[in-house]
Amino acid sequence: MTRKIIIDTDPGQDDAVAILLAFGAARGEQPELEILGLTSVAGNVPIDFTTRNCLMLCELADRTDVPVHQGAEAPLQRKLVTAEHVHGPTGIDGIDRPEPTTKVAGENAAQFIVDTVMNTDDVTLCTLGPLTNIAKALELEPAIVGRIPELVLMGGGHFAGGNITPMAEFNVFVDPQAAAAVFESGLKLVMMPLDVTHKAISTPPRIDAFRQLGTAPGAAVAGMLDFYHRYDIERYGAEGGPLHDPCVVAYLLEPELFSGREVNVSVETESRLCMGATVVDWWRATRREPNCVVMSEVDADGFYTLLVDRIRRLG
Ligand code: RIB
Ligand code: CA
Repeated sequence: MTRKIIIDTDPGQDDAVAILLAFGAARGEQPELEILGLTSVAGNVPIDFTTRNCLMLCELADRTDVPVHQGAEAPLQRKLVTAEHVHGPTGIDGIDRPEPTTKVAGENAAQFIVDTVMNTDDVTLCTLGPLTNIAKALELEPAIVGRIPELVLMGGGHFAGGNITPMAEFNVFVDPQAAAAVFESGLKLVMMPLDVTHKAISTPPRIDAFRQLGTAPGAAVAGMLDFYHRYDIERYGAEGGPLHDPCVVAYLLEPELFSGREVNVSVETESRLCMGATVVDWWRATRREPNCVVMSEVDADGFYTLLVDRIRRLG
């Protein structure tokens, strides 16, 4: 069955790979996915770049029929924090593509999400960045909660701690108030935290597999990952960068690649030291109701095999 999705994103090289994975899965006689739209949010880089990057990726995948709706340029309350030190000034440094010529379909991502969900059954939300657009959509129309079968998000950390601070993962840290609204909304949530994404490392052989496809999308993925993983190699002494956001789309395609458990997740929105921390009640220490399936394990080889196979479909 073809699954209808909206991807909310702040490209970011890892977002870009997730988006291309989705476009590959949307190909063929019986596509696995139907992408109803991309919605941009400020995060890794400011909104002008994340929106430009969405348009560029639709052109690279030859899918300019997929609408891009521009979203929030800043978090609900806090000042925007960006990550050019990781992703480069454009957010997808390492890609060698012409500037996009297509234009956005609209500049109110939250309204697009509400309109689409209220008028189309079974729309899954895939969030790859700060959750500002989702929180705004929930505020606009709370009834979307009952119509969305699942929201799969990249964000948060548990045993793995944080990446932007010792306790907070970037997407949640940028807009903790929005993240808290989403975790308290009653939406059916699946969370891909750093605990699982750091087990999906883009090692040089894995990057070469994309390059060896001999296609423009394959070269774009390899070029972006070559740029992106230098930061994590230097910082963590790892063999490569963790491929965070594609875990969200891979879960939709092959959920058996992942395992975790349903527990309560709450977001710290007050603490000076722990702002944006996701408090994962893994051992049920509290009576807080489970509200999210938190993933902790991934079959990394299976994950990369899936990625290469679907990117290959983009020709
Ligand atoms: O912490 C990793 C997350 O923050 C990823 O989604 C990356 O793209 C950035 O948005
Ligand atoms: Ca992202």
